Amino acid sequence: MSRSFRNYEHVLRMVGVFVTGLLVFLIVRWVLVPSDFGVYGFYRAGTLTDVAARPIAYAGHDACAECHTEIVDQRKGTRHEHVNCESCHGPLATHASGDVMKPGKPDLKTVCMPCHQKMDGRPKFQPQVDFKDHAGDALCTDCHQPHSPKIKS
Ligand code: HEC
Ligand code: HEC
Ligand code: HEC
Ligand code: HEC
Repeated sequence: MSRSFRNYEHVLRMVGVFVTGLLVFLIVRWVLVPSDFGVYGFYRAGTLTDVAARPIAYAGHDACAECHTEIVDQRKGTRHEHVNCESCHGPLATHASGDVMKPGKPDLKTVCMPCHQKMDGRPKFQPQVDFKDHAGDALCTDCHQPHSPKIKS
């Protein structure tokens, strides 16, 4: 045997280690990755049916308007006209389908905060107030009607 191929056993051993590692990886991958993974993209195709099977949480604006016409009228022409009911009232699909007839009211201490608390990053056209300066300990709804928020002068 020529000089350059002497003492090659250690290389074979390394190859053995790598091949074993690769086999273990492939077996573990085969066991752990679901068979429908990657059919449409980098996710499990079955998630689509899983998600579609989840109960619907939001009824959508039109559903509320069908029964609560008096609230729709209150909101007409106000700047809250296009703020969807469920952005304040929360998901109410079970109520809109007739299952729960007493859905409760939003928490008056927090309901206005996500949209009107003054924040530097918020666009100027979004009306915003510093809650402490503006209202102190009073509730927003002591002065503003949520379905027609401008204070009538
Ligand atoms: C099928 C008709 C119907 C639909 C659709 C419907 N509601 Fe109602 N809602 C009612 C009735 C009836 C009551 C009970 C009124 C009562 O007890 O005075 C009620 C009560 C409420 C109450 C509680 C009122 C209170 O005084 O405690 C809220 C809030 C409410 N609905 C919001 C909504 C929202 C938001 C939607 C849309 C996601 C919606 N509703 C969809 C019929 C409906
Ligand atoms: C800006 C937030 C907001 C939006 C948007 C909103 N609501 Fe309300 N709604 C409230 C709050 C807060 C109360 C509780 C008022 C109170 O108890 O003083 C309330 C009360 C109600 C009530 C109880 C009766 C009453 O007049 O107090 C009904 C019914 C209702 N809302 C339905 C609706 C429907 C239907 C829509 C969409 C067409 C809607 N709301 C949109 C915040 C909102
Ligand atoms: C989901 C977001 C959202 C919530 C929650 C919300 N608002 Fe608004 N509100 C708006 C938007 C958006 C406007 C401005 C719409 C526009 O640019 O015409 C507005 C406008 C207003 C205005 C200005 C009205 C005017 O005619 O100048 C007042 C006052 C107001 N909201 C009070 C409230 C109060 C009080 C609450 C809590 C009961 C509340 N809002 C909850 C989105 C919200
Ligand atoms: C003591 C009464 C009072 C209370 C409580 C109150 N407001 Fe006001 N708010 C007013 C008055 C008065 C105005 C100015 C008149 C108007 O624009 O309707 C106003 C204006 C606003 C505006 C419009 C600001 C603008 O730049 O156009 C917003 C938004 C608002 N309030 C949100 C709230 C929120 C949110 C709360 C609860 C933290 C609250 N208000 C509590 C009296 C009150």
